[in-house]
Amino acid sequence: MVPFRRAARLRKPDLFLAAGRLTETNASLLQALGSLDIDVEWLRPHDIARRLTPETAVLSRLDVRSTLDGVEDGIWELCRAERRGARVFNTGATLLRSHDKLATALALGSAGVRPPRTAQVSELGKEPPLPLPVVLKPRFGSWGKDVVLCGTREEYDRRLADVANRPWFRTQGVLVQELVQPRGYDVRLVVACGRVVGAIERHAQPGEWRTNVALGAERVAATPDSAAIELAVAAARAVEGDLVGIDLLPLPTGGYAVLEVNGAVDFTNEYTLDGGDVFEDVAEVLAAAVRPEAVAAASAPLAPPEPSLGLGGVV
Ligand SMILES: Nc1ncnc2c1ncn2[C@@H]1O[C@H](COP(=O)(O)OP(=O)(O)O)[C@@H](O)[C@H]1O
Ligand SMILES: [Mg+2]
Repeated sequence: MVPFRRAARLRKPDLFLAAGRLTETNASLLQALGSLDIDVEWLRPHDIARRLTPETAVLSRLDVRSTLDGVEDGIWELCRAERRGARVFNTGATLLRSHDKLATALALGSAGVRPPRTAQVSELGKEPPLPLPVVLKPRFGSWGKDVVLCGTREEYDRRLADVANRPWFRTQGVLVQELVQPRGYDVRLVVACGRVVGAIERHAQPGEWRTNVALGAERVAATPDSAAIELAVAAARAVEGDLVGIDLLPLPTGGYAVLEVNGAVDFTNEYTLDGGDVFEDVAEVLAAAVRPEAVAAASAPLAPPEPSLGLGGVV
């Protein structure tokens, strides 16, 4: 009797936001969706199996584990719910393709968006698979943790021996990646349902080559050019991402390399473009997909993508 009553009481909001933590980004997204009259609820990973039914919709923002050995709990339950008919924005496959940097490189390569050359190494004492300098990084990395630069063979062997002691190395080895000559900054674009809704430059701390905010980088307002927009939209499409962050490194010859796709992208109000509000823009795009009538009532319709870009546009 009790289980029946519980099942009967399960609420079905318009949209769940599945995440392990209520980060500032997640809290701002919940607030922005709520202000568009979208009934939205934070869904913790252990509730995914119980709450995601075929009639429900979810924005999935499961992140990588802090131990860098995979994706947070809930990913398989998410895939199962999706197979049974739940509507998932950022599907399980998308999360795996974006959180696993090897899968990202393969997905980008297949879509014709060339990432820096990437190889995987799981044994010590062999020739580097790519010409030096190279970057070593975990497959499921974040926050710049364990991302190291190797300029010489001696450095490569030493750094590889270091990372070989990490728990994640035993199951995943390490990625070896061509170094894109650091210019001191990168550009992150937030893409929601095929549209660029936000962007920022991240300027590395003096003396630091990595551009992670967790490593002291500073956020600087950005107006992405059409090359950056086109590349970011193509990269998001390559992983079939509904809400992703695309990190671009400027190339010495002009243009950009797509370095990373963030499946649970963190962003702030500083990412806002054109005097708008990035969270409102994301919420409008999602709301239009979940409940088109709510958006029509709350605001003017979204502008269509800029035709000149071909692939999408800036909201
Ligand atoms: N191949 C590379 N070439 C140049 N810089 C890189 C490369 N790989 C990583 N970096 C720098 O290190 C930072 C962290 O690497 P990244 O692959 O994004 O891992 P994480 O997921 O930990 O952020 C990047 O933001 C970039 O500044
Ligand atoms: Mg990164």
